[in-house]
Amino acid sequence: MKILATGKYLPARIVPNSFFEKTLETSDDWIFTRSGIKERRIASDRETATYMATQSALDALAKADLAAGDLGMIIVGTSTSDYVFPSVACQVQAAIGAQQAAAFDLQAACTGFLYSLILANQFLSSGTCRNILVIGVDKLSAIINWHDRSTAVLFGDGAGAAVLQANRGQHCHGRLLAFDLGADGRYEKILFMPNANTAKSNAIDLSHGVSMFMSGQEVFKHAVTAMAQSVQKSLATAGLTLDDIKCVIPHQANLRIVKVLADRLKIPKEKVFTNLERYGNISAACIPVALSEAEQHYQLQPGDKILMVAFGGGLTWASAIMEW
Ligand code: UT7
Repeated sequence: MKILATGKYLPARIVPNSFFEKTLETSDDWIFTRSGIKERRIASDRETATYMATQSALDALAKADLAAGDLGMIIVGTSTSDYVFPSVACQVQAAIGAQQAAAFDLQAACTGFLYSLILANQFLSSGTCRNILVIGVDKLSAIINWHDRSTAVLFGDGAGAAVLQANRGQHCHGRLLAFDLGADGRYEKILFMPNANTAKSNAIDLSHGVSMFMSGQEVFKHAVTAMAQSVQKSLATAGLTLDDIKCVIPHQANLRIVKVLADRLKIPKEKVFTNLERYGNISAACIPVALSEAEQHYQLQPGDKILMVAFGGGLTWASAIMEW
């Protein structure tokens, strides 16, 4: 499997940390020192998850020079679909005119894009499809409690996409060299978002309201441990060391998490790509948006190896090593 092209869409509205000083007991200094975030993009009512996903898809398809009609599948990692059904993937399929494509959403919270990418690789390597569009999109502004300072300041909105193609020759560049997928459902209480439609009839605890809840410190510890172990597993599977990796694209939740992870694995800081200072945590969109920017930043060339690692609610985590 190779990545033909990547694309992204970020809403135009920029909300700096100072915005929250007016409504919450917080400060630009606290937010930046504790998270590394300076500003985030917040979507308008018109910029639904489907709209953002569609724009990122059109960007990626144009760069790939591939017609939507040539797509065999669309997988969208998201936790903030406009409807329970149809899926964002089905709506994107209609919007871009990809009538030959099977389409479905995959819910693995912030790990949604990497889960989707790894799943797509299975369909591509088995010969089921030749071209697959994978998208990570989230509109977290729709599900956060804007009065809860422990979460409201951390998240943002956006979408990223990648057009993937099956590798025909044995020796051509562009391959998923190794991956690791994991989950631990025992930790549902430290990061969750109740389903507003079913919560009452399922007797779900709504003491935190129908919005996202996160026990930040606990999630922090699990994020570092799970991502470090996942990276080590993928490197071992690929038979590579970090010296072989051109750039590392970690989940963009918190700069402190990224730094602890890099210290623990001894990754030189120039190899670690971050953009969370500009976008905050955009959940399933973190990895594809960062991938699209890292491609330019590192001027990725065929044969370069990149390592992506994500973590999110579920708990879920994943890592993947790709040859560009
Ligand atoms: O993408 C999904 C995965 N998510 C993550 O990986 C996020 C993981 N967690 C984190 O990034 C960090 O834990 C946070 C950024 C959420 C919080 O940082 P922290 O250093 O763990 O702070 P804390 O939760 O221990 O809170 C420290 C203090 C508390 O006050 P007291 O109890 O010490 O008096 C909080 O009430 O900071 C307070 N606080 C705030 N103060 C000002 C919490 N949020 C804010 C705020 N502004 N926005």
